Amino acid sequence: EDLDLGGYPHYMAKEIQEQPESVERIIRGRLDDRFGVARLDGLNLTPRELRGFARVKILGCGSAYYVGQIGATMIEELARIPADAEAASEFRYRNPIIEADTLYIAVSQSGETIDTAFAVEEIKRKGGRVVGLVNVVGSTIARACEGGVYLHAGPEIAVASTKALTNMAVGFALIALALGRVRDLSNADGQRIIDAIRALPGQIKSILDFEPEIAEHAKTVAAAKSLFFVGRVRGYPVAREGAQKFKEISYRHAEAYQTSELKHGPLALIDEALPTVAIVPSDELTGRNLAAVQQIKARGGAVLAVTHADVDFGELDVPRIVVPKTEPELDPILLTIPLQLLAYHAALTLGYDIDKPRNLAKSVTVE
Ligand code: AGP
Repeated sequence: EDLDLGGYPHYMAKEIQEQPESVERIIRGRLDDRFGVARLDGLNLTPRELRGFARVKILGCGSAYYVGQIGATMIEELARIPADAEAASEFRYRNPIIEADTLYIAVSQSGETIDTAFAVEEIKRKGGRVVGLVNVVGSTIARACEGGVYLHAGPEIAVASTKALTNMAVGFALIALALGRVRDLSNADGQRIIDAIRALPGQIKSILDFEPEIAEHAKTVAAAKSLFFVGRVRGYPVAREGAQKFKEISYRHAEAYQTSELKHGPLALIDEALPTVAIVPSDELTGRNLAAVQQIKARGGAVLAVTHADVDFGELDVPRIVVPKTEPELDPILLTIPLQLLAYHAALTLGYDIDKPRNLAKSVTVE
């Protein structure tokens, strides 16, 4: 890829549009249809070693941490291994318990984020095994890990990360597949996930085709001083990342909650001035998510839903951004894409410096 703007007004716009090709690159040569498995030779782990891990712990900062949460859910669902994600910036300061049968995964676009690099050192010092999910080849974190999966997203210039994050989420799907297929995931289920991964680039392209409609929604949400992003289970890290992107470049207060937690406090803040972006996928929680949307609407709050075509909103008058359905475990990958465009167009409407937002650096290499 060129490092010039190639006719786009901002690097962020260019990098959002590059996602179909960038996802093609991370999956190229890594999907094996004969056995319904992902081939990840760079992990440097034998099937026997992969099978021996009792837990997975994912470490990253900022958006990489939120994608790590998406990855943890994928690993739990596909491989049935207990998995969680933690901010590397906290992990390295809290004297973490390092276990020999835990697979640690450090996730980073730049490979130079100091908190993540120091978390890797802490794990290694205490005898843990750590692999990387990193974009920049030969970076500090990539070199420090004993193996890993390169993202192949290409150079990312905009401070607000987009294509690297999408490739991280796809990378976690590959890792979940590899871990699942040495355990209880069947060949048929492996193939189901492979087919869905292969369809992602085309599906991302179809979301990007809706940019003009998403830009209209962005004008409406940009008018609010503060907004909520809500989702639950698979949708919660999507909401966190959506709020993060919005904060970074539109400088609006955007707060993410689990939809299920609204009634335990934050619902008190809902009124005409505080809109909510709700992640409402078509899955086993659709009914509960719709009930929460109804509660927000009943309190005068506006809702913009990011959803699937078959979700029936009934009487609820809710503007929607509809994304294509994939396999439920992979839904977060596609649900996140329109939120990039929402943040981008909100910042454009507000006239801010999209590629270099105030107070932020592309990669945080000092404390
Ligand atoms: C993403 O939009 C942010 N700029 C930021 O949260 C970033 O993801 C974080 O600093 C981690 O960076 P890394 O992936 O290069 O480690």
